[in-house]
Amino acid sequence: MARSRRPRTVAQPSSVIRHRLPNTVVIVTGAGRGIGRATAELFAREGARVVLCARTGRELHAACLAIRAAGGEAVARVTDIGSARQARALVNLALRRYGRLGLLVNNAGILGPRVPLVRYPHRDWATVLRINLSGTFYMMQEAAQIMARQRNGCIITLSSSVGRTGRAQWGAYAVSKFGVDGLSQVLADELRPAHVCAITFNPGGTRTAMRAKAYPREDRLALRDPSVAARALLHLAICSSPAISGRAFDLNNLPPRLPAHHYGIRAPNRAPVSLTKRKTKC
Ligand SMILES: NC(=O)c1ccc[n+]([C@@H]2O[C@H](COP(=O)([O-])OP(=O)(O)OC[C@H]3O[C@@H](n4cnc5c(N)ncnc54)[C@H](OP(=O)(O)O)[C@@H]3O)[C@@H](O)[C@H]2O)c1
Repeated sequence: MARSRRPRTVAQPSSVIRHRLPNTVVIVTGAGRGIGRATAELFAREGARVVLCARTGRELHAACLAIRAAGGEAVARVTDIGSARQARALVNLALRRYGRLGLLVNNAGILGPRVPLVRYPHRDWATVLRINLSGTFYMMQEAAQIMARQRNGCIITLSSSVGRTGRAQWGAYAVSKFGVDGLSQVLADELRPAHVCAITFNPGGTRTAMRAKAYPREDRLALRDPSVAARALLHLAICSSPAISGRAFDLNNLPPRLPAHHYGIRAPNRAPVSLTKRKTKC
């Protein structure tokens, strides 16, 4: 008599693809390092098709190649979101390649100088607002048009505690983060009838290059890893719903799971247009 074979338990590698975002098309801005890279990697492991951007090609392509090496689907384009033309080209790339857009994570941002307002250089003021506020607006505008046509989608924008309560020497960075909360609320109100969700998320102190620049003398090991923020962003993406649109979140007030009516950012469960076979440069 043949011995019945029990299925063997196979240890799963850490890069295993789970699929809580199956075939969802996601743009992550500022995905070359820090929170953006951790988010792009996590979302790709969850089955999303990820479109990455940053200005530094070397970091961006390393992030894209790491996702592909782990079996994920990703494409990258060097982009300065502070240019309306480049922001549009990025969103068009996502649309041309994948045919839809489920989620935009507006993560890219810069810190600017940590000096009092009375000494804040005008050139830096203009640069920080161009990238953090206008760049976020350009990305939102392009993505929102597509999502409104689809009648679903979600836009999550990274904010900051200094964008909720002003603090000395945070200058244009703080003002830009107040601004993105406002942008998100206006968009949420305008696009509620079109079933598009817009929310903000403050990750809190996280071990990244930006944080090291802001607090050069602090103990980096005491800070949270960027993967914590990435997991919170995944939770928000999955919970995206009319009930939470327009709201501002941080790690202590994440919404409960299983919303009554989500915006269906996940793509219909149809076979993908054999993208994984296509050989394209990161
Ligand atoms: N880390 C924290 O403690 C913390 C706390 C609160 C909020 N946040 C927010 O979280 C987000 C991510 O921060 P992080 O700490 O991960 O920063 P980070 O390590 O400095 O990474 C920022 C990313 O954004 C990209 N970027 C900057 N300007 C860009 C532009 N004009 N166009 C496209 N990409 C651009 C950077 O690449 P390039 O320079 O190559 O373009 C990089 O990939 C930011 O919005 C930040 O304000 C962070």
